[in-house]
Amino acid sequence: MSEIDALKKQLESLQAEALEAFGAATDLTGLNDLRVRYLGKKGSLTEVLKGVGKLSPEERPVIGQSVNAVKQALGESLDAAELTLSEAENEKRIEAERVDVTMSGRITSRGYKHPVQNGLDELTAIFTQMGFDIAQGPEIEDEFHNFDALNIPPEHPARAMHDTFFLKEFTDRPMVLRTHTSPVQIRAMQRFLEEGNEPPLAVVAPGRVYRCDYDMTHSPMFHQVEVFKVDRDVSLANLKGVLKHFLSAYFGKDLPLRLRPSYFPFTEPSAEVDIGCVLCDGKGCRVCKQTGWIEVLGSGMIHPNVLKSVGINSDVYSGFAFGLGVERMVMLKQGIPDLRLFFENDVRFLRRMGS
Ligand code: PHE
Repeated sequence: MSEIDALKKQLESLQAEALEAFGAATDLTGLNDLRVRYLGKKGSLTEVLKGVGKLSPEERPVIGQSVNAVKQALGESLDAAELTLSEAENEKRIEAERVDVTMSGRITSRGYKHPVQNGLDELTAIFTQMGFDIAQGPEIEDEFHNFDALNIPPEHPARAMHDTFFLKEFTDRPMVLRTHTSPVQIRAMQRFLEEGNEPPLAVVAPGRVYRCDYDMTHSPMFHQVEVFKVDRDVSLANLKGVLKHFLSAYFGKDLPLRLRPSYFPFTEPSAEVDIGCVLCDGKGCRVCKQTGWIEVLGSGMIHPNVLKSVGINSDVYSGFAFGLGVERMVMLKQGIPDLRLFFENDVRFLRRMGS
């Protein structure tokens, strides 16, 4: 056989083999491998072309034509195969990703705010609506802010181990878990003055406090909201007015209010605040111990020594302050008998009382 016939034969069988292979390809990657194998730079067609060198100059264009025809045929066949395969792969993907829009949804249960958090938010909002600014302080507090600056002398019973958690890691500078939110009075006033301000200053300070206590009405960790105002001519009447507004806003009705003389080192005069029992409307029940009154918070006029401890002139300025227990407020409003329920994490309770 002449060289040219041999080449033609080679081209024919190459074409036949390639077309069959293209038709048998099952995916696009496989098809691409075939494209490289037959039409690539180092592919079979290139291999055949090497034989062209042996042909005479007249024969070359003839075989060139055949090569181009094969190239075109293979190219067309590849494109057609590619189209079919990619359509099939698309179909498969769509099928796999198909969403059944008629299927019913999965129910996710809605979360609830813990009743104590709910109470904190509600109480804080009542005061911010009256124009009080929110302040916060650290739960690990030094003795200066928790006691000294609040006019609580070292021998005061509130310092005794019985009530206060002392942190034994701090030997050079005793630190405690704050026993009330009143230290935020000191911190807020200090910060306020450092920023170059002059009273008036009105602050609400919600937060966590700690005392070594545990029974139906006490937990070693509980929450307080501290409220105070410093200005010229602040009087007990201002205190009573704010209390009256706040208590009726929180309980949603006008409650009788009574201030009873009491003692706190950081207020003078000091008063315990009672409200008419929310459960029996003052008729007398188990919760108010048949008195018709319930003690809800401690209050008073800020002691001049407290103002002095931060450098506020107590001849010019005066202030009122009160601190209330959040759990107690929530218990009264929702009729919850035992404070420990808040911390037992029984979801049936939390779901019913939260919101
Ligand atoms: N800090 C006091 C307590 O925890 C409450 C209080 C605050 C009393 C402000 C008077 C003024 O018992």
